[in-house]
Amino acid sequence: MTLIILSTLLIALLTFIVHSIFIRIQKFKLRAKIGLDGPPPHWLLGNLKDIIDRTKEIGWNNAQEWHLELQKKYGDRYAIYFGQKLDIFLCNEEDIKEVFIKNFSNFSDRGVIEIFRETKLNASLLQNTYATGWKHTRSTIAPIFSTGKMKAMHETISSKIDTFLEILEEKSMGNEQWDIYDDFQGLTLDVIGKCAFAIDTNCQRDRNDVFYVEARNFFKNIDLRHNPLVTCSVMIPELMWIWKFLYKFSGLAEAEIPLVQGLDDVYERRRSGEGSDSVDLLKLLLDREDDKTKEKMTKKEVIENCFAFLLAGYETTSTAMTYCSYLLAKYSEIQKKLWEEIKMVKNEGKLDYDSIHSMKYLDAVYKETLRYYPPVIHFISRTCLSDITIRGQFYPKGCSVTVQGNTIHRSESNWDHPDIFDPDRFLAENSETTEKSGNLKWIPFGVGPRYCVGMRFAEMEFKMTIAKLIDKFELGIPMGERDLIPDCNGVIMRPKDAVKLNLKLRE
Ligand code: HEM
Repeated sequence: MTLIILSTLLIALLTFIVHSIFIRIQKFKLRAKIGLDGPPPHWLLGNLKDIIDRTKEIGWNNAQEWHLELQKKYGDRYAIYFGQKLDIFLCNEEDIKEVFIKNFSNFSDRGVIEIFRETKLNASLLQNTYATGWKHTRSTIAPIFSTGKMKAMHETISSKIDTFLEILEEKSMGNEQWDIYDDFQGLTLDVIGKCAFAIDTNCQRDRNDVFYVEARNFFKNIDLRHNPLVTCSVMIPELMWIWKFLYKFSGLAEAEIPLVQGLDDVYERRRSGEGSDSVDLLKLLLDREDDKTKEKMTKKEVIENCFAFLLAGYETTSTAMTYCSYLLAKYSEIQKKLWEEIKMVKNEGKLDYDSIHSMKYLDAVYKETLRYYPPVIHFISRTCLSDITIRGQFYPKGCSVTVQGNTIHRSESNWDHPDIFDPDRFLAENSETTEKSGNLKWIPFGVGPRYCVGMRFAEMEFKMTIAKLIDKFELGIPMGERDLIPDCNGVIMRPKDAVKLNLKLRE
């Protein structure tokens, strides 16, 4: 009897393995079949193996450089296998426009790694699909970023920035060097907490604040290097039911539970009347939950969208501002030019919503920072919903189509001297390059109808913080400090090591 059971199990296992190998071979033929080229895939990991090998070799993940090499080698349309999944990369503006904008209805859904469907983000704008209500969620959330609401939020943001500057002043008095990225993260968490849910987190002063600890933990755990479960799910998707079951015990689940619980408490408090006069994201979502039409939201959707805002609103903007501070510290002439503009504005009035938005050089520094170091590099992706041919290229149903911001921003065909940090390229007098920020050559916030909904908020927070920072301090790089190395955690390109700067109070 035991022998029969064992033999049956063995046969089942062998059948499974043979079937999987057969399917894999078929999948790996797909790229050539549709006329695309790319690096040869590893039988188990696909081209994930190339990223892992490079990471081992140099000590950090420079996927952004790898993609530049792939573009040079294979051209403006190439494909890689993420595990077994075909991911087509587009670098040509016409292709991007056709796929991401003109044919949006066939590419409306984000390309999401299957295991991430288990996260508490799946019902949020970040991950939801057209079929599960993306359009309605987007139209509910978009009004929070109207000019009127942004102006109303400006004072709140300003007071959080004042705390940030006080902390930096205290730290700059000591003898210790510290990582300014941590301070930017505390700031953006406090800002998004207050502006989106009217809660007073204290992430700037209290590094044990649950939002600070667990939001950072969450981002650590989306990284394949820290989360073997994600790697396994990509390598052997045939066993997805096992990976999905194990998800509950993973670091990601561990990080998101206290965050979602915290947001649930905020929800309940608001429902019981606390802060009911706040006009923020939570209010808009609750109104939609109370909506009598069939497009109403569920509580789960409300909470998951709050969670998405918390994560999307903090990591990206803090990373962008850290890059900017580093670049200004490194290029003192650029910093000086920005300070001159700040002084001029202050001579005529003060640094507020209107004056900050009228500053041309600050705008150029903002755009050039995001061109030079786009923080989000692996998120501008879509799933092909049905077979389609566009500009002679066949896109099979189920494949992902991705635009990698860094490749577009560092391509010589898009930008003159792309590896030079030069905000002047965005000034009005350089009309040729200014035009580029309005088209598909400058895409830090994505492309088409699914571009970043928080773009204007991020811009305001970035500009206000950087203007006030440079108004107060002169930034410099400490002697002997190494150049910043960008490291890709799968979605975000963030500084690999602590970013240590000298901060000198201005007279
Ligand atoms: C410098 C800061 C930021 C950068 C570089 C950035 C970048 C991006 C990118 C590249 C996307 C994907 C767009 C696409 O697929 O075409 C995205 C989506 C998104 N971002 Fe941002 N983001 C930033 C700040 C923010 C902020 C502050 C918020 C919220 C307050 C936010 C909320 C979102 C949301 C909800 C989405 C999903 C939009 C959708 O699918 O409809 N982001 N962001």
